[in-house]
Amino acid sequence: MTADLPVREGNAGLPPRDERLWWRDAVVYQIYPRSFSDSDGDGLGDLPGIRQRLPYLADLGVDAIWLSPFYPSPLLDGGYDVADPRDVDPRLGTLDDARAMVEEAHALGLRVFVDVVPNHFSWEHPWFKAAMQTAPGSPEWARFHALRGKGENGELPPNNWVSAFGGSAWTPIEGHPGWWYLHLFDDSQPDVNWENPEIHEDYAATLRFWFDMGVDGFRIDVAHSLIKAPGYPDGPELDEVWTPGNETGPAWDQPRVHDVWREWRRLADTYEPPRAFVGEAWVRTTEAQAAYTRPDELHTTFNFHFLKAYWDAEVIRDVIGTSLLTSAAVGAPPTWVLSNHDVWRPVTRFAPWLDAETIDLEAGRRRALAMSLLSLALPGSAYLYQGEELGLPEVLDLADEVRQDPNFFRTNGEVKGRDGCRVPLPWSGDAPPYGFTTGAPWLPQPADWAPLTAEAQAQDEGSTLSLYKRALRVRKASPVLGDGELIWRESGHKDVLAVERPGDEPVLVLLNTGPADRAVAVDGEVLVSNRRVDRDRTGALVIPPETCAWVALS
Ligand code: NOJ
Ligand code: MG
Repeated sequence: MTADLPVREGNAGLPPRDERLWWRDAVVYQIYPRSFSDSDGDGLGDLPGIRQRLPYLADLGVDAIWLSPFYPSPLLDGGYDVADPRDVDPRLGTLDDARAMVEEAHALGLRVFVDVVPNHFSWEHPWFKAAMQTAPGSPEWARFHALRGKGENGELPPNNWVSAFGGSAWTPIEGHPGWWYLHLFDDSQPDVNWENPEIHEDYAATLRFWFDMGVDGFRIDVAHSLIKAPGYPDGPELDEVWTPGNETGPAWDQPRVHDVWREWRRLADTYEPPRAFVGEAWVRTTEAQAAYTRPDELHTTFNFHFLKAYWDAEVIRDVIGTSLLTSAAVGAPPTWVLSNHDVWRPVTRFAPWLDAETIDLEAGRRRALAMSLLSLALPGSAYLYQGEELGLPEVLDLADEVRQDPNFFRTNGEVKGRDGCRVPLPWSGDAPPYGFTTGAPWLPQPADWAPLTAEAQAQDEGSTLSLYKRALRVRKASPVLGDGELIWRESGHKDVLAVERPGDEPVLVLLNTGPADRAVAVDGEVLVSNRRVDRDRTGALVIPPETCAWVALS
C-alpha cells in the first residue's frame, strides 16, 4: 500500500460496540412472509412457517428481522394494501402466532421490525368502505383525499399526478360523478389524509399495539409521501412508468412530513428500551435522505443510493463517501442496502449480460457477493433480503398468467413488475416446491434451484450461505466493524477500492471491480473473501476480479 493522506469519514467518537444502541450496527434480514416458508400447505408463506425457521436465521448470524406486512389484506399489492393494521391475515396466522414469533425471536437474540404503511390503507379497510357509503364532504371522506375533478363536470382528474404503478393517481368515486380519490399507488390503496388528526391517532394506536407486543421497531413504508402540497398543484410531467426514485413533485418529500416523524419519534422514545424506526424514502439525494434521520426524527433510513450504484469502484466509492458525509452530519448511522422485494435481485442486476440468454449469472453472483461483503464491512447497519444469502437470481421468465404485481396490470404488462424477486425460497430437496410448502407455491419456482437450497448449501463450505455465515460471525466478533469510522486507503489501482476500519483490530477491506487480478501490498491475513486470495512472490495479496476481501491488519 502506498502511504496516502488518510481521509477519515463516518461517525467518530462512538461508545464501544457492545455499548452502542443496537440499531446502529444491526444486520437486518428482510422476510417477505408470503414467500419465506409455508407451514400449512396452502402455498402461501405464514407466521408459523417463519417461527419454524427462526433458528436458521439465528444460525445465519443476523441481528434482527424485518417482516413485510402480514396484516389482513386483499393482497392486491402483496400486503402493502392493509385492511386492518392491528391484526394478522388469517391465511398467514393469528395474533398469537405473531406474539409467539416475537418472543421466540427475542429468545434467539433476534430483534424484530414489522412494517407500517402510513401513506394508504387498502380499499377493504373499514374506513374506506365507510367513506364509500357516504358522499364526498362527509367526515368519513375527510380521512382520505376526495376532490372535485377538472373540466365542466369534473370529468377530468383533479391534477396530473401519476400513480407510482402507472396511470393517473386519481380514480372516480363510484356513484358521485365528478369526484375522485387519490392513490399514489394502486387504486386499491387510497391515500389517507394526514391533515386529519384522526389519522395521527389511528397510526399512533397501531404503533402502540405492536410496540406493546414487544416489537423492537418499524420499517416505515414510503416515509417521504404522506403530506401533499397544499392545494394539490400539478407536478412536473413524469414518465408514466415508475422506477423507484422517480418520486418527486408536490406529492412527495414535503417539508411537513418531518413533523410526523418527530411525533412518531416521541412515541417510540416513551418505551423502555426505546423503539426504533427505519424509513423507506426513495428521495433524490443523500442530503434529502439524511434529513429524515435528524436526531429527533427516524433512527435510520434505507440507503437506496447504494443500491443503485453499479459495478465500478469509483462509482461505489463516491456513493459511500456521500452517504457517510451526509449521515455523519446528522449523527445517524448509514445503512447499506442491495436488495429488497421491490428490485431485481443483485445476482442478476450485477451480471454482465446482453440479453436474457447470454446473462452470466456466475459472474453476477460473484459481484453481488463481493458487494454484499463490502456492505457488511462499512460503517453502520446493513440489510439482507431473504434469499440473498442463497445467491438467488431474479426469476425473469414468470408467465404473465402468474404475475401478481399491480405494476404489471397498471401498465398493461409493459412493466413486468416485482414478482421475480418474490418467488418462494428453496429450502431443501431436488425439485419445486423445495420444502417451501407441501402444496403449490403461490408463484412457481425455477426447476434448476436444487443446488441453491439452504439444505444443499449448508453442507458445502464453499457455498454462498457458508460465506455469509462466516462474514457475519467475523463482523460480530470484530470491535471495528459496524458503525464508526473508515479511512480511505490507496490500493494503487483505480479499480480497487480500499477502506480501513481503524481501531484495536483494524480491518482493511478491498474490492476489485476490474477485469483482472490486482496485487496489493498489505501486511495482514485474509479473514473473509468471496474468492480465494493468494500472495505473489513479493508477498502482496492478489485480489481476483469480482472479489471483496477483509484483511486483518497486523
Ligand atoms: C413500498 C413497498 O416496498 C412496495 O412494495 C409497495 O408496493 C409500495 N411501497 C406501496 O406501499
Ligand atoms: Mg400457509
